[in-house]
Amino acid sequence: MSFNRKDLLGLEYLEKQEIQTIIETAKPFKSLFTRSIKKAPALVGKTVVNLFYEPSTRTRTSFEFAAKRLSADVVSIATATSSVVKGESLIDTGKTFEAMKADIIIIRHSLAGAPEILAKNLNASIINAGDGFHEHPTQGLLDLFTILDKKKKVEGLKILLVGDILHSRVAKSNIWALTKMGAKVRVAGPPTLIPKHITDLGVEVFYDLDKAIKNVDVVNILRIQMERQQENLFPSVHEYVELYQVTEDRLATAKPDVLVMHPGPMNRGIEISSQVADSSNAVINEQVTNGIAVRMAVLYLLVAARNKQGKKNGNIN
Ligand code: CP
Repeated sequence: MSFNRKDLLGLEYLEKQEIQTIIETAKPFKSLFTRSIKKAPALVGKTVVNLFYEPSTRTRTSFEFAAKRLSADVVSIATATSSVVKGESLIDTGKTFEAMKADIIIIRHSLAGAPEILAKNLNASIINAGDGFHEHPTQGLLDLFTILDKKKKVEGLKILLVGDILHSRVAKSNIWALTKMGAKVRVAGPPTLIPKHITDLGVEVFYDLDKAIKNVDVVNILRIQMERQQENLFPSVHEYVELYQVTEDRLATAKPDVLVMHPGPMNRGIEISSQVADSSNAVINEQVTNGIAVRMAVLYLLVAARNKQGKKNGNIN
């Protein structure tokens, strides 16, 4: 098992073996959570910066917990109260943290490719915490971890992603990870919310949720991005609910042990009914717990790769 990357920018370019390495590394970190002291010393002396240009509850907190549980020094920057509002560029902001000796910068940005820009310009390792409509790799990894934890395999499973696929970076990272692991991935939603060439990624497209959900092993429900409703991408919220809400009746046609997943934040009563969100099939809170373990694994592996590279270059780490 090896992982020799400087950055984690997306799952598109990871080999299956690298994805497996992250998942295997996350398992012992998860078992740490049941101990009274949930800390390991792996990142003592390392500095992690959480740089979020967009709102976040889960990802930002999860990375902060992950870094702290590995004993790193971590700071979280809310860009609304930083010098970004005075017009500082992304690269200058990144270089400022590098001058403070940040080892890892975790970035969320509305611009697809922003993490790659930082990665090309900084020696610090960059983790993409969600960039535009592009990728949200740690969400894809934690979703994969959750499915493996519950189903013990992914190969051959029928996995449905339903909702706003077009604007969803979670959907893209899930598709890259799940198809590499051999899942049969379906996407469902209104035609206006499904990208034209999505079949090139090896997924099956359904515009009828009732057909798509039949016999699936996993349904991962994506948030309807209400902030985009002014673009008239579907006729009305009422119509969306009628055609695409995952309800108990619809879920009854999936496999009896179907896993119900949602990356959050949920719009209860829109893309998911409250009964489904709170059902015994739902693993939504477990996804959150698993997210910390997976992010610990990513931080740990990136630091290990930096240490290896540092030794090669004759630096002491
Ligand atoms: N799943 C996810 O990215 O949630 P946040 O926007 O709260 O980080």
